[in-house]
Amino acid sequence: MTCGTITTQLLLLCLTCFHVCFSSATPTYVTQYCQNTTTNEFSPNSSYQVNLNLVLSFLTSNASSPNGFYNATAGLSNNTVYGLFLCRGDVTRDVCRECIETASREIIRRCPNGRVAYIWYDECMLRYSNQLIFSTINEVPGFSFPNSSDVPNPGEFSKLLRQVVDRLRNRVAFDPSLGKFSTEVDNFTSSQTLYSLAQCTPDLSANDCSRCLVGSVANIPICCNGKQGGNFLNPSCSLRYDMYPFFRVTAATEFPSTTTTTTTNTSSGKERNKSRSIVLIVVPLISITVLLCAIFSWRRMKGRRTRAEDEVQMVNSLQMDFETVKASTNNFSDVNKLGEGGFGVVYKGRLFDGQEIAVKRLSRNSGQGAKEFKNEAVLLAKLQHRNLVRLLGFCLSGGEKLLIYEFVSNGSLDHFLFDPIKCADLTWERRYGIIVGVARGLLYLHEDSRHRIIHRDLKASNVLLDEQMNPKISDFGMARLFVPDQTEGNTHRVVGTYGYMPPEYAMRGHFSVKSDVFSFGVLLLEIITGKRNNDFYQSEQTEYFLSYAWRRWKEGAVLELIDPTLCDRYSRHEALRCFHIGLLCVQENLADRPTMSLVILMLNSYSVTLALPSAPPYFISGRAKTIVPARSESQGTESDQSASKVLLQSINMSLTEVYPR
Ligand SMILES: *[C@@H]1O[C@H](CO)[C@@H](O)[C@H](O)[C@H]1NC(C)=O
Ligand SMILES: *[C@@H]1O[C@H](CO)[C@@H](O)[C@H](O)[C@H]1NC(C)=O
Ligand SMILES: *[C@@H]1O[C@H](CO)[C@@H](O)[C@H](O)[C@H]1NC(C)=O
Ligand SMILES: *[C@@H]1O[C@H](CO)[C@@H](O)[C@H](O)[C@H]1NC(C)=O
Ligand SMILES: *[C@@H]1O[C@H](CO)[C@@H](O)[C@H](O)[C@H]1NC(C)=O
Ligand SMILES: *[C@@H]1O[C@H](CO)[C@@H](O)[C@H](O)[C@H]1NC(C)=O
Ligand SMILES: *[C@@H]1O[C@H](CO)[C@@H](O)[C@H](O)[C@H]1NC(C)=O
Ligand SMILES: *[C@@H]1O[C@H](CO)[C@@H](O)[C@H](O)[C@H]1NC(C)=O
Repeated sequence: MTCGTITTQLLLLCLTCFHVCFSSATPTYVTQYCQNTTTNEFSPNSSYQVNLNLVLSFLTSNASSPNGFYNATAGLSNNTVYGLFLCRGDVTRDVCRECIETASREIIRRCPNGRVAYIWYDECMLRYSNQLIFSTINEVPGFSFPNSSDVPNPGEFSKLLRQVVDRLRNRVAFDPSLGKFSTEVDNFTSSQTLYSLAQCTPDLSANDCSRCLVGSVANIPICCNGKQGGNFLNPSCSLRYDMYPFFRVTAATEFPSTTTTTTTNTSSGKERNKSRSIVLIVVPLISITVLLCAIFSWRRMKGRRTRAEDEVQMVNSLQMDFETVKASTNNFSDVNKLGEGGFGVVYKGRLFDGQEIAVKRLSRNSGQGAKEFKNEAVLLAKLQHRNLVRLLGFCLSGGEKLLIYEFVSNGSLDHFLFDPIKCADLTWERRYGIIVGVARGLLYLHEDSRHRIIHRDLKASNVLLDEQMNPKISDFGMARLFVPDQTEGNTHRVVGTYGYMPPEYAMRGHFSVKSDVFSFGVLLLEIITGKRNNDFYQSEQTEYFLSYAWRRWKEGAVLELIDPTLCDRYSRHEALRCFHIGLLCVQENLADRPTMSLVILMLNSYSVTLALPSAPPYFISGRAKTIVPARSESQGTESDQSASKVLLQSINMSLTEVYPR
């Protein structure tokens, strides 16, 4: 964080404090979502910042828009900012304006430098993005909040609720006179009343609005079964019900056209006193910050001078003596062999000091010069995360290239998962921990490390388990260490394993973070079901894993797919949610697949609702676009620590997998 932003934030904080302390009706904050992708950040003084400020000022100045909705755009081509707000249909213009003002102030404080951000209050919602967001349905991110009080008669209640939400949905979506907002008040028992509300952004089509609300309704049993209230929020629509009037019942269905008299009574004397006390607080605070910043910058400049030297030192410390490493593996003896993968054989080694290591001896034709190899190795060694196998060093000697990794004691996940006896060690808690750990490691590769790394070959045999069964992803960054094989005239190749590859990669060689998300989804489903993704090839139905998983999900029979070795010792709720997330990751359209940060959010927080997944690519069999892996590819490749088959296939694609930040 630069000093500029610290100072700005401090100022904003003070302003917010001022606002909270002295303003009259503050809107009720509900939640926010910031897309924290480092790649999706703008720099403080960029034109994106300027456009964002412009959009926010358009939104606030148009806060009295007649239907409580406004969309605004600023900037051309690259740095366009799209923003919109929506006030709850029953609030007055004053409340709406108050809410939009608060929201536009808070959103940049809570999501600093994010190109994409959302914020929800009870009274309004505001969002902006660098993508066109108008007139398109957007159900992600979604949130659901139950009212924790139990309803006395849940059976009767859900019957009533089903009818109510269906009526609401029909009216909101298909009655154009309502401006995409409607409420209902129903008697439940003699003493209890059900209040419900639904709203879509008015820019949606009737069908999109209906679809969005169906998605929210589908989350009712997941979030709020037996509870007296539920609140479902996503960027395109909201649905809420409760046993108390949480909206203005008299306002009913229309946005009031009469402006209530403004009662902003700002006695000028009082105002001046406030300003003075603010000056008294702010000036010393800013002085201190500036002083601290100066010291900080000076120290950083001192640090920078030695960075080049550090780099050289790092290469030296990582480079290991070939003979030492060779000796540690008993001269690469077969006894020490841990596995074999597409990039070479992996041996177990033990250094003189007793440290255990795993040595990957790269197949000789990696085609890369020594300098590039060193650079790549240094880069990979810098990637340090508890869910990544750590690269300790490398060797270069003659034509030999070795990579030295930490030794991970329990071997690879597939050895447990697909073994009829060892799978019993994988309790539900462990499986869940592995899913979350792999997600975190992948997120680190995608977003948190200095370079964006796309794994391209995530699979069960590339997830290693330590003694506590914590997962560590291995083999990441391997595509970087190999350059195209020029001798065969192939300038391009696909690195990956059938069954884990999304169609856009397998067929066209297009890869992105979303191809890793697909592989993650397949892996997740394998972990829950205990089945290999190619298990169903052999069955008489000749139905593929994803297609089978999808069909059972549509039929509501997911629990039958859960690994039977878990017996009933698992959380049904967690398992269903995980399964659902897995299906979201393997959707055919890569734009529909969530990012890893969203996956983590969905795994961590039950208040995040899940979108309805669309079919995975393998579902529609018999069509031209379906990939049917050839039998030969799925046969006889018993995976070892890294022995499952890696396909190197010539395809028209580029090997630029790293996007420098
Ligand atoms: C994004 O960053 C903000 C502040 O930097 C933090 O409060 C929020 O939890 C982060 N969100 C995610 C999804 O990581
Ligand atoms: C940001 O922009 C302002 C006005 O254009 C300029 O005065 C200031 O020096 C800039 N700050 C940085 C850090 O570039
Ligand atoms: C509303 O926003 C537009 C840009 O979308 C802006 O030109 C206009 O000045 C705003 N309206 C008011 C009343 O400020
Ligand atoms: C608002 O959105 C519509 C599309 O729904 C678009 O045509 C219009 O230009 C947008 N208005 C502004 C000010 O961006
Ligand atoms: C848009 O960005 C790309 C790369 O970020 C740049 O090459 C191009 O010139 C930019 N276009 C405009 C119109 O600014
Ligand atoms: C739950 O309902 C009670 C009234 O029955 C209300 O006071 C409370 O605020 C509600 N809680 C939430 C989280 O909406
Ligand atoms: C709901 O209850 C109130 C008071 O108990 C009653 O006046 C009203 O008619 C009832 N409404 C319906 C639709 O039954
Ligand atoms: C504004 O405040 C003054 C004194 O503080 C008071 O006399 C006056 O009635 C107030 N006006 C309104 C509209 O509340």
